[in-house]
Amino acid sequence: MPETERTARPRRLLMCRPRHFDVCYSINPWMHPEKPADRNLAQLQWERLRERYVSLGHAVEVLEPLPGLPDMVFAANGATVLDGKVLGARFRHAERTAEGPAYLSWFVRNGYQQVRWPEFINEGEGDLLCVGRRILAGTGFRTDLRAHAEAQEYFGLPVTSLTLVNPNHYHLDTALAVLSDTEIMYWPEAFTPGTQGVLRELYPDAILATASDAAAFGLNAFSDGRNVLLPQAARGLIAQLEERGFEPIGVDLSELLKAGGGVKCCTLELRP
Ligand code: ARG
Repeated sequence: MPETERTARPRRLLMCRPRHFDVCYSINPWMHPEKPADRNLAQLQWERLRERYVSLGHAVEVLEPLPGLPDMVFAANGATVLDGKVLGARFRHAERTAEGPAYLSWFVRNGYQQVRWPEFINEGEGDLLCVGRRILAGTGFRTDLRAHAEAQEYFGLPVTSLTLVNPNHYHLDTALAVLSDTEIMYWPEAFTPGTQGVLRELYPDAILATASDAAAFGLNAFSDGRNVLLPQAARGLIAQLEERGFEPIGVDLSELLKAGGGVKCCTLELRP
């Protein structure tokens, strides 16, 4: 019997329908252009995720995708939004460069007053994760270390740099998930030894993933404080979440996984 009663906090989320989704280039080890993804199935799976959020009481805004940007479905990479302030994204790879301004213009059109075009490469919430009033920031593959300082200065919140080492876990949100304002789960081996020490120090009670749950993309999860949406294949994480009083909800995004994406990648949180 879990000792903690968890409460969900309703969120505002931004998502982007995978209307132009495809795997036609490879910028991470999950992407194999010679093995096609089923776009119709991707749209169905994405729609189920959107409906699930709505049924849990979250407000979902939907951004129109642009043709020629097959990864635009991964809204988490589009920006970082905190205290109503928007830090735009600047992508590492040319294939995704145009997504940065496309996302930023959504925020401008939707009345956001504080919007910053970034100086250094950052791939939004792919690498910048908010845990309460602290930002955990990934680097090593995509986001430039200098973007961490930029985010700290812009948001006025402490940023902790974490270094990724495993190319299968190229974004922080593929190796670590935020569960509540004080709790996380992660796969230690995705990080350098120094970063593993930092995570142990900051979150001694974190849920640790096994290699197989991490490989099932189990850490690419979204939590509202109670409900945790994650791949249903992450059995070990699901059991540990239940033990701690969370409500794990298994989601199948098999087609989006062919681009190296999952639940969290499709979800950008709009923090008021
Ligand atoms: N194909 C995309 C890329 O490699 C996947 C992005 C996944 N997004 C994420 N937040 N991890 O950039």
